[in-house]
Amino acid sequence: MEGMIAKWYTANTGKSLDEFAKLARRIAGQLPPGSALLDVAPGPGYFSIELAKLGAYSITGLDISHTFVEIASRKAAEAGVHVEFRQGNASSMPFAQDTFDFLVCRAAFKNFAQPVRALREMCRVLKPGGRCLIIDLRKDASIESINHEVEGMGLNPVNKALTKLAFRTMLLKSAYTKEQFRYMLSQAKFQRADIRESGIGFEISMTK
Ligand SMILES: C[S@@+](CC[C@H](N)C(=O)[O-])C[C@H]1O[C@@H](n2cnc3c(N)ncnc32)[C@H](O)[C@@H]1O
Repeated sequence: MEGMIAKWYTANTGKSLDEFAKLARRIAGQLPPGSALLDVAPGPGYFSIELAKLGAYSITGLDISHTFVEIASRKAAEAGVHVEFRQGNASSMPFAQDTFDFLVCRAAFKNFAQPVRALREMCRVLKPGGRCLIIDLRKDASIESINHEVEGMGLNPVNKALTKLAFRTMLLKSAYTKEQFRYMLSQAKFQRADIRESGIGFEISMTK
């Protein structure tokens, strides 16, 4: 079952490669060559693979799913780039403190069983002054705006209907409000944190 969902997600989001490439260009614009970046819960790895095409970065992805680690590793090899995808839990990362310059976590934070522990881990593994960007759905996104977003994903009618259903039944339920995020952030030790609404989601930028 997990494997089927992973494959479905990989095929669906593979239709939005432009979006991953755009995010990769945006992050690359802020990242000096040689920087170490951690992609927390990369799933199929599209963001990291797009970023690896843009410069000499040291990129690591950490995902709890063995299936996604396999898929992402295969996709990186097919794209001819090096990204180290490894299996592990965002709430208990297998990395030393002060390891990464930048950390990205997209469309995944709301799935974490121990979100505050994940925030503390993000802070621990970042170098002092390192930055973190979390992008996720916000709980108060309207059904209309979500449907509109899904319409733009280039999906066939069945996958469009399934994706809308997933947003309504699962994803919105686990999403956080801005206030909940602020409260969780108050339990981690970032120097700065900024929450900005963007479309159906928000972007949370933190600095250690
Ligand atoms: C919806 S996918 C998002 C993938 C990717 N970031 C993207 O933007 O397409 C969510 C990912 O979170 C991973 N995940 C869930 N809980 C996790 C945890 N505690 N630690 C690491 N990864 C986790 C899942 O295995 C899955 O790959």
